[in-house]
Amino acid sequence: MLIGRVVLCAALVGLSGLGFSNIGVQDLAVSPKGGDPVSGREIYVNTCIRCHGIDGKGVLEVKLVPPPADLTSPAVQRRLDGTLFRRIHEGKPNTAMGAWKHSLSDEEIWDILAYVRTFGTELGGQP
Ligand code: HEC
Repeated sequence: MLIGRVVLCAALVGLSGLGFSNIGVQDLAVSPKGGDPVSGREIYVNTCIRCHGIDGKGVLEVKLVPPPADLTSPAVQRRLDGTLFRRIHEGKPNTAMGAWKHSLSDEEIWDILAYVRTFGTELGGQP
């Protein structure tokens, strides 16, 4: 039954999205169009670099408590796209990480996220 199979697939995708499966979740939680790391880099350089640094490891001279997250670290790179998107979109309470939803479009945030993901591949791909 074709219809039955479509419904089942939708249910599986839904479950994976909620984190019940670790297999392929990162592939599922992607932007509808896929982020563009090239335009993401441009935005990153203009808006994120002063805290997170050109290499994503964080700017040491910036004395923040807590310090800016090391975007190259496995702890960050292991997170799902949706989680990181939300962090950038909503910010992180009680830290210097503000919500960027007011100044950046969803598409721009997906582009930045695609660029942030390139910090992870420099470490040798998926942790
Ligand atoms: C004013 C300094 C500042 C700026 C500007 C800034 N951040 Fe942050 N960012 C922080 C701090 C501080 C944290 C929180 C660190 C922690 O949770 O301990 C953080 C956390 C994050 C996290 C969450 C990492 C995790 O733990 O999952 C992401 C992703 C991130 N920033 C991306 C960005 C991006 C992308 C931009 C540019 C749009 C940006 N940040 C701009 C200071 C900044």
